[in-house]
Amino acid sequence: MRTPNLLSPLTMRDLSARNRLWLPPMCMYCVPGDDGAVTDWHVVHYASRAVGGFGTLIVEATAVTPEGRLSPNDLGLWEESQVEGHHRIVDAVHAAGALAGIQLGHGGRKAGTPPMRPREKGARTSTIEGWELLAPSAVAYPEHAVPTELDETGIDHLVEAFTSAARRAVEAGYDIVELHGAHGYLIHEFLSPLSNFRTDSYGGSPQGRRRFLLRVVQAVRQAIGEEKVLDVRLSATDWADGGLTGQDTVELARQLAEAGVDILHVSTGGNVPAQVPAGPGFQLPFAAQVKEAVAGTRTQVVGVGLVETAAQAEQALVTGQADAVAVGRAALRDPYLPLRWAADLGVRSWQEAPWPIQYWRGTWH
Ligand SMILES: Cc1cc2nc3c(=O)[nH]c(=O)nc-3n(C[C@H](O)[C@H](O)[C@H](O)COP(=O)(O)O)c2cc1C
Repeated sequence: MRTPNLLSPLTMRDLSARNRLWLPPMCMYCVPGDDGAVTDWHVVHYASRAVGGFGTLIVEATAVTPEGRLSPNDLGLWEESQVEGHHRIVDAVHAAGALAGIQLGHGGRKAGTPPMRPREKGARTSTIEGWELLAPSAVAYPEHAVPTELDETGIDHLVEAFTSAARRAVEAGYDIVELHGAHGYLIHEFLSPLSNFRTDSYGGSPQGRRRFLLRVVQAVRQAIGEEKVLDVRLSATDWADGGLTGQDTVELARQLAEAGVDILHVSTGGNVPAQVPAGPGFQLPFAAQVKEAVAGTRTQVVGVGLVETAAQAEQALVTGQADAVAVGRAALRDPYLPLRWAADLGVRSWQEAPWPIQYWRGTWH
C-alpha cells in the first residue's frame, strides 16, 4: 500500500519528522504561580500527544517577558531558571519519537487577560488591572486597557527578549522555534494597519510595519544557529476592511523565506473582535496562497484550522495546499488522533502506522 502523504516524513533542514501531522500551540493556562514555570501537567500533556503519533509538537505560546504573557497562567522563557522545565517536555516528546518546537510570543495590547474558563465560551475578557501593556501604538483592543506605545529602546529590548528566549529554547533542546506572529499579539500588531499607526521606521508602510518581525527573525536565526528550524506563525488575513489581506501575507512570506525562515504556519484573524467565517479547512486556502508564494524556496507551509478528518488532511497535502497539517482542538479531545487517522487512511500494519513500538501487541486485531 502507498504510504499516505500525511504519514510520509517531513524534512526540515537536517531534521526529519516521522509524519506531517503537527500539534499546533495551545495554551494550557495552568501555571499555578507567577513564575511561568513548566508543570507536570505540561510534560504529561505533550508526551501523550507524542505517544499518540504526532510527528511535530509546538508547545503553547511561551512569553519572552513577564508582561508579555497572555494570561498570568502562561509559560515563560524569560529567565534561565525556566529552561529546566522545558528540558523535561523536550525529553519526553523526543522519547516518544516526535520533534519538539516551542512558540515564543508577546501578547502586546492583548496581554494580561484572565484565562478563559469552562462555561465562559465566547465571553470577552479584559485586561487585568495594573498589567503593563506594550504595543506599537497606544490604541486599545476593544474592551482592553490602552497600551503604552513602544519607543525605540523598548523595541530594541523586545528584540533582545525574543533572541534570549530563543537561545534558552535551544538550551532546552527544542528542535523548532516558532515566533508567534498571529492572532493579534505583538508581532501581528506591528504588521497590521489596524493596530500600527506609527509614523517612524516601524510603521507607515507595509515594509515599515514588517520591520519589527524582520529584525526578530534575523536576530533569532543568528541566535539559534543553522541546525534549528525557524518557524513563523502568521495571521494571513485580518478578516476586516483596511486590515491585512492574503496578498500582504504573500509578499511578507517571500521576505521571510529569503530571511531563512523554514516554516510558515498559516493561521488567520485575532486582531479585531469580528466574527471569523470558520468552517472545515477555512484557513487552508491562505496556506495554499503562501505555499505558491514560496515555491522554489526551501520554506515549507503548515496549514491549520478545522481540519478534523484524516481524509481532509490528506486532501490538503495531496492537492498541495500545505506541506503539513496542524490539528488542535480535535487533539485536545483525543491524544491518539494520529494513530486513529492512520487507520482511517487504510494503514493496517504497525510498521507503517506511527504506533510506539511498545504498543505493537495492541495493534493486532
Ligand atoms: C485552548 C486553545 C489554546 C490556544 N493557544 C494558542 C497559542 O498558544 N498560540 C497560537 O498560536 N494559537 C493558539 N490556539 C489556536 C490553535 O493553535 C489553532 O490554530 C486553532 O485551534 C485552530 O485549529 P483547530 O481548528 O485544529 O483547533 C489555541 C487554541 C485553543 C483551542
